[in-house]
Amino acid sequence: MNAIPEHVRIVEVGPRDGLQNEKTIVPAAIKIELIERLADCGLQTIEATSFVSPKWVPQLADATEVYQGIRKREGVRYPVLVPNLQGYDRARAVGADGVAVFTAASEAFNRKNTNATIDESIDRFVPVLQRAREDGVRVRGYLSTVLGCPFQGDVPLSDVVRVSKRLHELGCAEISLGDTIGVGTPDKARAMLRAVAAEVPMDALAVHFHNTYGHALENITACLEEGVRIVDSSVSGAGGCPYAPGATGNVASEDVVYMLHGMGIETGVDLPRLVETGLWLGRQLGHRNVTSPALAHPG
Ligand code: HMG
Ligand code: MG
Repeated sequence: MNAIPEHVRIVEVGPRDGLQNEKTIVPAAIKIELIERLADCGLQTIEATSFVSPKWVPQLADATEVYQGIRKREGVRYPVLVPNLQGYDRARAVGADGVAVFTAASEAFNRKNTNATIDESIDRFVPVLQRAREDGVRVRGYLSTVLGCPFQGDVPLSDVVRVSKRLHELGCAEISLGDTIGVGTPDKARAMLRAVAAEVPMDALAVHFHNTYGHALENITACLEEGVRIVDSSVSGAGGCPYAPGATGNVASEDVVYMLHGMGIETGVDLPRLVETGLWLGRQLGHRNVTSPALAHPG
């Protein structure tokens, strides 16, 4: 077991993972306000939007308008999701200097999400990585379904390790290991991270837990003990992948920050302000995540 860290970097994915799965399309002005409010909370990495096909994800078809509308803060990164060179070009046209590519450890999910095999999806973003290198753009790689797939069921650890290693070798500075449908439990999360970390340096790994069965915080704790220092989360627990049936939102950022601060770990995030932002978002979306303890007891 590793020592509990002094600091954890939170990657706030709400504006992208959260809003991509909303039934109604959130106006660009609200998305921009959300991103600015999150920066006001002290979050230093805010995944802003996604330059995927607007036919596949109409919720984020306004990516250009949103990205251009954000007043960028010194010291805050605003990476965006891109599936291919077309997305990369759209992102670069508005000045994005950090992108995230994505694939999965299960063929069945990857096919539904990107209309491609794992290898084909990687072939699509190999030129993105090449261009990013030339342009000095930082690339994060997402690996979905690391603890289970909505179509295939169990996902062999060897597949998770193989694709993570490939993403790292291709030049992804950071690899986010996604429990897309939130089926993980602490022991499985720990074993998965340990296996990947045998091939990819731990400081290049992040964890991304959806909270379908309410185990995300325990899974994060297990992964912190295993040595991870980068945690993805989504304000108010919004989120889900439109191509992962049954998956609910990401673990709520408020809950993660509350837990980390309680463990004596710094995040740089102003918790009361984040709680207020989560409540504000709930009002904009017409719902409230009352399951979040931090939301129920702000302050
Ligand atoms: P395709 O239909 O196979 O692609 O989709 P295509 O290359 O044949 O193009 C079809 C049409 O899409 C063409 O337009 C292209 O121009 C257009 P048409 O000629 O028909 O008018 N197109 C684009 N337009 C704008 N921007 C682009 C783009 N690319 C193609 N970048 C594709 C393949 C990958 C594009 C599609 O499947 C797609 O966009 N999928 C994205 C699905 C998605 O966003 N899922 C959610 C994000 S992943 C996630 O949430 C998991 C994560 O959170 C981690 C976890 O939880 O596990 C990251
Ligand atoms: Mg996700």
